[in-house]
Amino acid sequence: MAKYTICRVSELPPGERKIVEAGKRTIGVFNIRGDFFAIRNQCPHQNAPLCRGIVTGTTLPSQPGEYIWTKDGEIIRCPWHGWEFDITTGRSVFNPHKMRVKSYEVTVEPPAAEEVESVESFTVTVEDGWVILHA
Ligand code: FES
Repeated sequence: MAKYTICRVSELPPGERKIVEAGKRTIGVFNIRGDFFAIRNQCPHQNAPLCRGIVTGTTLPSQPGEYIWTKDGEIIRCPWHGWEFDITTGRSVFNPHKMRVKSYEVTVEPPAAEEVESVESFTVTVEDGWVILHA
């Protein structure tokens, strides 16, 4: 599994996404409330660029006339025909056990030692690490 450096954490704020090339694949990397997730930018229905779809939420099963909104900002809707997928798992909303899009691990790693400026008598904290895609 290869590692791809995507950007600084500060360059991908919550609610935003970056669509990147990783080898022969195109992958969407998402920041959802400070946590990072990645899914393939290819809808399993007819290969649309899934990660260009709108990010939304979904409703839970409920009584008639009752709407319970959940997973706000965690669901992506395919721009072609509207299939929806959970960005955090890759599973579809309509058939989560059988239909899914490939998901990938994303980690945040501190900058390399030579990038950290320090003075011997001060404590240094790392606040802006790198977003790393494992694909
Ligand atoms: S190509 Fe994505 S729903 Fe049809």
